[in-house]
Amino acid sequence: TILVLDFGSQYSHLIIRRLREFNVYAEMLPCTQKISELPFTPTGVIFSGGPFSVYEEGSPHVDKEIFNLNVPILGICYGMQELAWIDNVENVARGEKREYGPATLNVQDKDCALFKDVDHSQVWMSHHDKLHNLPSGFKTVATTENSQFAGVANEAKKIYGIQFHPEVTHSVQGKTILKNFAVNVCGATQNWTMENFIDTEINRIRTLVGPTAEVIGAVSGGVDSTVAAKLMKEAIGDRFHAIYVDNGVMRKNETITVKKTLDDGLGINLTVVDAGEQFLSQLKGVTDPEKKRKIIGNTFIHVFEKVAADIKPKDGSEIEFLLQGTLYPDVIESISFKGPSQTIKTHHNVGGLTENMKLKLIEPLRELFKDEVRHLGQLLDIPEDLVWRHPFPGPGIAIRVLGEVTPEQVKIAREADYIFIEEIKKAGLYRKISQAFAALLPVKSVGVMGDQRTYEQVIALRAIETSDFMTADWFVFEAAFLKKVASRIVNEVDGVARVTYDITSKPPATVEWE
Ligand code: XMP
Repeated sequence: TILVLDFGSQYSHLIIRRLREFNVYAEMLPCTQKISELPFTPTGVIFSGGPFSVYEEGSPHVDKEIFNLNVPILGICYGMQELAWIDNVENVARGEKREYGPATLNVQDKDCALFKDVDHSQVWMSHHDKLHNLPSGFKTVATTENSQFAGVANEAKKIYGIQFHPEVTHSVQGKTILKNFAVNVCGATQNWTMENFIDTEINRIRTLVGPTAEVIGAVSGGVDSTVAAKLMKEAIGDRFHAIYVDNGVMRKNETITVKKTLDDGLGINLTVVDAGEQFLSQLKGVTDPEKKRKIIGNTFIHVFEKVAADIKPKDGSEIEFLLQGTLYPDVIESISFKGPSQTIKTHHNVGGLTENMKLKLIEPLRELFKDEVRHLGQLLDIPEDLVWRHPFPGPGIAIRVLGEVTPEQVKIAREADYIFIEEIKKAGLYRKISQAFAALLPVKSVGVMGDQRTYEQVIALRAIETSDFMTADWFVFEAAFLKKVASRIVNEVDGVARVTYDITSKPPATVEWE
């Protein structure tokens, strides 16, 4: 295992991801980790970048015991400056100008193991501080026009530093550099594969749950919860109980589809609860988006707990575990180094279910990124359609009906959404788009149908492309496609007089309208 010590860079998690692309397993811990308390012995260590200046008071530093592990170390950006600063505080200072963006790497030392098969390629810079002197025992192995010390090495100790970010794809040969470090320098084994992951995870679940205990978990019809549920089914069979709550604001045919796929198809022990009326009556008169979210979250917990109480293990004992489809990005959120004074936050699970129900948590996907979950889903024979499904928010159509959520309004939004998605699939665009949906606006507009004047509502279509949902851009459709969707919606959905397409990026807009 390669240990990544996180100094708070926005790219830290990408290091782990790149390493996994060539089957090397890595784990991330905050840079302040005490080395005597490391949960494993690393074969090599990477110091990530970070937003601080090493010489500033209060900036984060590693436990110096790390050097007594006598394993190779690679410092990236702040991580490199940290290595130099520990050697001598005079080694690092502010550069004359910030350097952000592409630079061309010149490898000076062709024998350096870190730069094997790397030369003259573009690398990505993002820094203000830089090395002013070489730390003792180091030599320069690579430069760029603006960075005299773009790559430095202490070959005897196998300690390396690079000023640029090899983990981002803009560093064209970045992956080769990381591979050189992990595989050639550290000798890390390349045995992390999804197939191995399935076996290891199933064994881990079996050991954790034991021979008799039972597990419950909510499924939503989305990729993550379905993959997590299928993994549980493989591990402990019918001792896993899935609960699907129809909250009245799901997509068209959702409940039928979930039942067909999970219960009939995947053989998962599934309880379906129709709680639509309960949710909708709670939402009556509510227009504030955050209030809608809160009501739906709380009602969900209430309904889930009630149903869970009726599911009793055969031996009359209590359910012991709760399954959750937490992914690695959520975990990172809780372990990343946020700053010297900030406490590390614990990640939230679905509305505090565990606290109320005194359940222990199982999170089989906590090491995986979204695309890895999709790959896992394919290996677990989950239908293609579901594996590639767009994300859908917990509060569902309630935050896509702007203003008050009534059954009539939900129906309009749902029908329009169904047509939009159907056309996207027909046009072969579904997988090119990260998320698409229809929102119903609480304004009326005049139209004409036949010889009749109409006065009905407006549908806003939204389709975005994104890699992480933090930033997003709107998807460029061909005019003929939009024409067809608009015509179908106005003709087939009662209550809609006009269709618009949302051409706002995130930021400044969010993906959802509420
Ligand atoms: P925004 O609107 O914040 O959306 O740009 C980013 C992503 O998050 C989803 N989203 C939610 N998911 N509960 C969820 O489970 C919510 O309250 C919620 N709000 C937004 C949204 O669909 C998009 O994928």
